[in-house]
Amino acid sequence: MLRNDQLDQWDRENFFHPSTHLAQFARGEAPNRIVTGGSGCHIEDRDGIRLLDAFAGLYCVNAGYGRAEIADAIAEQARELAYYHAYVGHGTEVSITLAKMILDRAPKGMSKVYFGLSGSDANETNIKLIWYYNNILGRPEKKKIISRWRGYHGSGLMTGSLTGLELFHRKFDLPLAQVLHTEAPYYYRREDTGQSEAEFVAHCAEALEALIAREGADTIAAFIGEPVLGTGGIVPPPEGYWAAIQKVLDRHDILLVADEVVTGFGRLGSMFGSDHYGMRPDLITIAKGLTSAYAPLSGSIVGEKMWKVLEEGTDENGPIGHGWTYSAHPIAAAAGVANLRLLDDLELIANAGMVGRYLNETMTQALGGHAHVGEVRGEGMLCAVEFVQDRDNRRFFDAADKVGPRIAAALLEHGVIGRAMPQGDILGFAPPFCLSRAEADEIVARTAAAVGAVLG
Ligand SMILES: Cc1ncc(COP(=O)(O)O)c(C=O)c1O
Repeated sequence: MLRNDQLDQWDRENFFHPSTHLAQFARGEAPNRIVTGGSGCHIEDRDGIRLLDAFAGLYCVNAGYGRAEIADAIAEQARELAYYHAYVGHGTEVSITLAKMILDRAPKGMSKVYFGLSGSDANETNIKLIWYYNNILGRPEKKKIISRWRGYHGSGLMTGSLTGLELFHRKFDLPLAQVLHTEAPYYYRREDTGQSEAEFVAHCAEALEALIAREGADTIAAFIGEPVLGTGGIVPPPEGYWAAIQKVLDRHDILLVADEVVTGFGRLGSMFGSDHYGMRPDLITIAKGLTSAYAPLSGSIVGEKMWKVLEEGTDENGPIGHGWTYSAHPIAAAAGVANLRLLDDLELIANAGMVGRYLNETMTQALGGHAHVGEVRGEGMLCAVEFVQDRDNRRFFDAADKVGPRIAAALLEHGVIGRAMPQGDILGFAPPFCLSRAEADEIVARTAAAVGAVLG
């Protein structure tokens, strides 16, 4: 293995880390970790520390670390044909096979897959396709996109705008004018604490309806949402939310984009979140779980209704003016094919559903009654614990106290990686699908210990 005692210094001098306090990192005040290996649900760093990764990287290493089947497929493809582009009708055996495998698994009514490299670029593609669609239909005014506060859709110009988290807007001159935000389906943080779940769902639908009325339905092209809010706090929707939203969208001829970058390919214990919640999307964004992050690959799955119009558009205007050099990169596609086969062969999605339920139940038993825990929630292999100053009056901690990050740091000391979600004191878990019950027990026990160490 490569050993280099200067690596730490090189890291601080040369490497621009995303989502990092740049000044503290450069000054050596913020920690770094140089990761060298991984197996199953564990990673190891170059100091020999082994950690249970209960966030699967960035909820992406769904099949688990160290899968030889995927690594071998990548190596074989690299030797056979490392690259060819997908422009003007070119393809490779693996990219075509993967497109078919995705459509075979996708919700009903989906037609084609456009391949990108990241969740962010797939959502950029989606917005371009939506604008193209409405131009072809002769509705050039119907262009605005509605997203939710606390939604996460990437950090590009458009996708950073769609993201409804302040950190991703501040000082970047975002959001762009074409983007509007509406209520997050976050029942625990509802403004009117007297509302029942059903009343809150009605309130979310009414807030959307009011926004559409204010702007004019003929100016609104699409609504984008994650089936389960992810980075905004790991929040499953209240019962009936998607049915209520879908009704409003249908009434105003507004497209639905299901951003399934986290939920796609099994994280909820079902193949897609859209099916899990009965959503009827026109576009589906996929990324992370498509390759379990063994190679960067994303996709926009285009529904039949939009596809017909895109075809008409090219009849009128010639080839579609959209493409990346690395669209459908064969090495990434080989990783995707091997990953989806592995999920099937090992029944990892069923395991995600079963062990995920167990993780949520045991976490609730261990922490649901704690004086500073407001809520334990989750769905499938997603789980979150939200901390509050006063649970009876739902009084939140001051953000400056950094309670969430302190608990995540304490948990790390206990050998488990959880994620302090960026807005609110929320500890998130999204382990690989191969998690065992014993590992789930370990996550829960160590989380309880970390919470005890910070909050008593
Ligand atoms: C729901 C969702 N959409 C989009 C993205 C952006 O993906 P990427 O970071 O690959 O650009 C993410 C990333 O976490 C995500 O969670």
